[in-house]
Amino acid sequence: MIRTQRIRPTLRALCGGAVALLAGVATAAAQEPTPEAIVDAMEKVSGTHAGKRRSGAKGVCAAGEFVSTGAGARLTKASLLQPGARVPVTARFSNGGGNPRAPDNAPAVRGMSLAFALPGGDSFEMVMINAPAFGASTLPSFMKLLESRAPDPTTGQPDPQRIAAADRENPEWAVQPNYLRANSPPSSYATAPYFSVNSFVFQNAAGEKRHVRWTFEPVAGRAVLTPEERAARGADFLQDELRGRVGRAPAEWRMMVVLPREGDPLLSATAIWPADREQVEVGLLRITSVTPAGQPGECDPMMFNPTLLPAGIEPSDDPMLNIRAPAYAVSLSRRLQ
Ligand code: HEM
Repeated sequence: MIRTQRIRPTLRALCGGAVALLAGVATAAAQEPTPEAIVDAMEKVSGTHAGKRRSGAKGVCAAGEFVSTGAGARLTKASLLQPGARVPVTARFSNGGGNPRAPDNAPAVRGMSLAFALPGGDSFEMVMINAPAFGASTLPSFMKLLESRAPDPTTGQPDPQRIAAADRENPEWAVQPNYLRANSPPSSYATAPYFSVNSFVFQNAAGEKRHVRWTFEPVAGRAVLTPEERAARGADFLQDELRGRVGRAPAEWRMMVVLPREGDPLLSATAIWPADREQVEVGLLRITSVTPAGQPGECDPMMFNPTLLPAGIEPSDDPMLNIRAPAYAVSLSRRLQ
């Protein structure tokens, strides 16, 4: 299992080394695409945009706090989820993909990334999306998905026939877009739920381990745009909407830890668990400030790392989880150049 260290812009000089280290771990499995090859393929789909993330390119920084309910203590010894924990949070809200002008009124991925400032040198970051499934469940499948969406060199446009043929051969690719068609676009970053997608392994004080996922449920309720609202709101409203909303009152989410039943797939990022699974409400996230328009944000040069985990939480063996930090490090090193 990969455990990575936090990578900060102040460590820019170390980035190349970190990438090489992370890439080395991730490429140990023969024949798997490397993190560099995957980020190359992402760049072919969306182009390269100086200084921008290769996914989640359009986004805004925010900050707030997380308050534990204490109910998670029976599941994990992670300090964040113990009774009385109250922790400052740096956040980023984003639109999926490498296009910094990705339209806010299209049914597509939205992201919420969190970095918790835990006391005592412990670290915990989360990188979540508004769908309970990712686009593919294995690295070769994800590479094929990206390659099928790359522009045809002769036309400069994606080839609809090639896409349709590849989609027919790979039915798992339909899970996420089908979900998003029915459950997005959100009317606000604050009316979207955000899912861990991958499973993680919680360990409690008694040493008991179990796989879990988690969801952040918006206290404002889930709300998506109607077709009329999509036309009226336009392509660029989410960031100002969040600023206005948070200017009046904090935007809040309840963190729910979801427990699987025997037989639920634990290591597939395209397998959605049934909605009736037991959920434990472990805390409240309150976003209390959003970076003003046109100003650089604290999160801009950060890399949120979904496998930077505290004592009491480990990554599962899902390959789509364990490739993420190495790929994010490649993206970070390229966007800081
Ligand atoms: C469960 C699966 C995944 C989820 C939920 C997810 C979510 C996200 C989100 C929300 C961001 C924006 C982060 C930010 O705001 O800083 C992001 C960035 C990114 N994602 Fe993923 N992702 C997933 C899987 C993957 C995989 C499998 C890859 C490639 C192997 C990948 C590649 C990237 C890259 C390169 C970035 C840009 C990172 C940076 O420059 O900081 N993601 N992802």
